[in-house]
Amino acid sequence: MVKIAPSILSADFANLEREIGRISDADYVHVDVMDGVFVPNITIGIPVVRCIRPVTKLPLDVHLMIVRPVRYVEAFCDAGADIVTVHVESDTPDEIRAALDKIHARGGRAGIVLSPGTPAQAAEPFLEHVDMILAMTVEPGFGGQSFMADMMPKVAALRAMIDARNPGCELEVDGGVDPVTCRACIQAGANVLVAGSAVYTAPDTPARIRELRG
Ligand code: DX5
Ligand code: ZN
Repeated sequence: MVKIAPSILSADFANLEREIGRISDADYVHVDVMDGVFVPNITIGIPVVRCIRPVTKLPLDVHLMIVRPVRYVEAFCDAGADIVTVHVESDTPDEIRAALDKIHARGGRAGIVLSPGTPAQAAEPFLEHVDMILAMTVEPGFGGQSFMADMMPKVAALRAMIDARNPGCELEVDGGVDPVTCRACIQAGANVLVAGSAVYTAPDTPARIRELRG
């Protein structure tokens, strides 16, 4: 079954425990970490991951939109992240490999993220070393943007690469996913869907999570 990872970027940060409680029917809690340098926005970091760890049984899926993530991945694992994903654009290939290795050494699941302008082939050198590949369907930086349907061939290409070389790897999409656009993502081969505004603006959160499963 398709997994749903609501992004708490769209939650009420003054009431995070309650907001995470609303998504207990989901599969992962998606945590968007932005540094104001890799992306033009600043969000939350290690102390918030540490504080939310005890309030949910769901795995924490931490999406790092920061420069040189190798500096911080161990701290995120120690704070309670279960999955840590790093952008391939955020450092050299060697340093990205080093970041993935550090996450694994801490017992975490490691992933890479591809921004919209980055081709599927950029995942090639990392394919055997990741547990998740995240394909962005908006430019990283902000919630509530429009879904980029033109990313679907790239998602399909990543699905083919994963099936051929690392079938246990998850394929996640992030940005503009709603009860309509989720279908194209699933059709293209994604098995984890991130959704921020579509989940947190819904009057009935469990019903919305069910809808997003396609
Ligand atoms: C964007 C973030 C996304 C975003 C998704 O940089 O990585 O996780 O919060 O929000 P929606 O679902 O509203 O596009
Ligand atoms: Zn994200």
